[in-house]
Amino acid sequence: MPAIVWDDSLRTDIELIDGQHRELFERANRLFEAVGRGKNDKAVGEALQFLMGYVKRHFHAEEKFMRAHAYPKLSAHSWQHTDITQSLNDLVAQFKRGGDMWIAMKVSRLFSGWIVNHIRQSDMDYVRFIHRKK
Ligand SMILES: [Fe+2]
Ligand SMILES: [Fe+2]
Repeated sequence: MPAIVWDDSLRTDIELIDGQHRELFERANRLFEAVGRGKNDKAVGEALQFLMGYVKRHFHAEEKFMRAHAYPKLSAHSWQHTDITQSLNDLVAQFKRGGDMWIAMKVSRLFSGWIVNHIRQSDMDYVRFIHRKK
């Protein structure tokens, strides 16, 4: 069973964003599976990096997109991205020091819960703003 399941309530109808969100789900689920298989720190470490690389890429692209559309709540939104990135980075650093599987599990749980709420509340807010402008 995957950690997070995509459903239509998460659709923004903005191709760039939906594509990136689906990729994030994919990568979060790969991490979840790697942790589930357990004991292989290398595979889990790679899955962590694979996820984190795309998290940063998505946040960057999304912030650029919101800026281009003059979204008025950009700074509050960016702060949410920075906040979760810092929390994830701290956990990844802890994992690199000790390789404990429960830390990787914590990353998986934290991110999976966060991303679903973040899309539903914060991403959908700029999405509504942009669709209204059209
Ligand atoms: Fe966002
Ligand atoms: Fe997003």
